[in-house]
Amino acid sequence: MIDLAQNHRSIRSFTEEPIEESILNDLLLAGLRSSSSGNMQTWSVIVTKDNENKTKLYEAHVRQGMVLEAPVVLTFCADVFRMREWIRVNKAKQSFDDLLGFLTGAVDAAIAAQTISLAAESVGLGICYMGTTWWAADKIIEILGLPKGVFPVTSLVVGYPAENPELRDRLPLELVMHHEKYHHLSDEEIRKTHAKREQNAWSRYTANEKLHAKLKEEGITHVTQFYTSKFKYSKELHERVSKMLIETLKEQGLWL
Ligand SMILES: Cc1cc2nc3c(=O)[nH]c(=O)nc-3n(C[C@H](O)[C@H](O)[C@H](O)COP(=O)(O)O)c2cc1C
Repeated sequence: MIDLAQNHRSIRSFTEEPIEESILNDLLLAGLRSSSSGNMQTWSVIVTKDNENKTKLYEAHVRQGMVLEAPVVLTFCADVFRMREWIRVNKAKQSFDDLLGFLTGAVDAAIAAQTISLAAESVGLGICYMGTTWWAADKIIEILGLPKGVFPVTSLVVGYPAENPELRDRLPLELVMHHEKYHHLSDEEIRKTHAKREQNAWSRYTANEKLHAKLKEEGITHVTQFYTSKFKYSKELHERVSKMLIETLKEQGLWL
């Protein structure tokens, strides 16, 4: 298990081999066994295999090719709708239609997604998460017909790998792990501990000639500038998506 986790790599290119129904079922049953808040299991997963539906999701996920290539796309949702329906049928006092309900469901959904990811990797499948689920939450709600109380949190493409990428680097554990209290890094410590990651990321991005030319054109000379540029996670993108998320959470009855 530890070996599997320590050798995880995202897979973005897939063979045409379908995933057998019994294997997919086993993966989902593994996900169902995940811990969840109060054992309420306030999550749902939408399985997409149909090409027409995949094409709609592909458009929503800013045309990431892996959505079309993968035999299966899984959209994990925070789901307090089912819990609220159960409460309604039994005439108990209603709850969960708020931010806390959403966050509870979002954590449940993310934990289930990771259980399924590891289960998938354990049988030779490859996975990649899609953060574009947030960017297109409003569109995905429409495409998947999600009722009030249900909100997409993350998505996975799953299939048999058609690539064998190298392990991507990670920050040193000392940066992520804190002993007893949070340790604030000095500027010098930040420079020293991030140097390897900066080097690796920069050489990976600039190995792509087209991207390298664009970076030069924009005067981008450091990986942190790239991360906050229009090519990655700009402040404008964050503000636009954040506003949409708040509006959509309100519409889905998951704010206050
Ligand atoms: C929440 C989340 C969202 C992600 N979104 C995307 C995405 O939209 N497109 C993509 O190609 N990779 C995406 N990834 C994959 C990351 O880029 C990848 O995990 C990271 O670069 C480390 O690479 P590795 O998983 O191969 O070790 C996402 C990963 C996570 C956990």
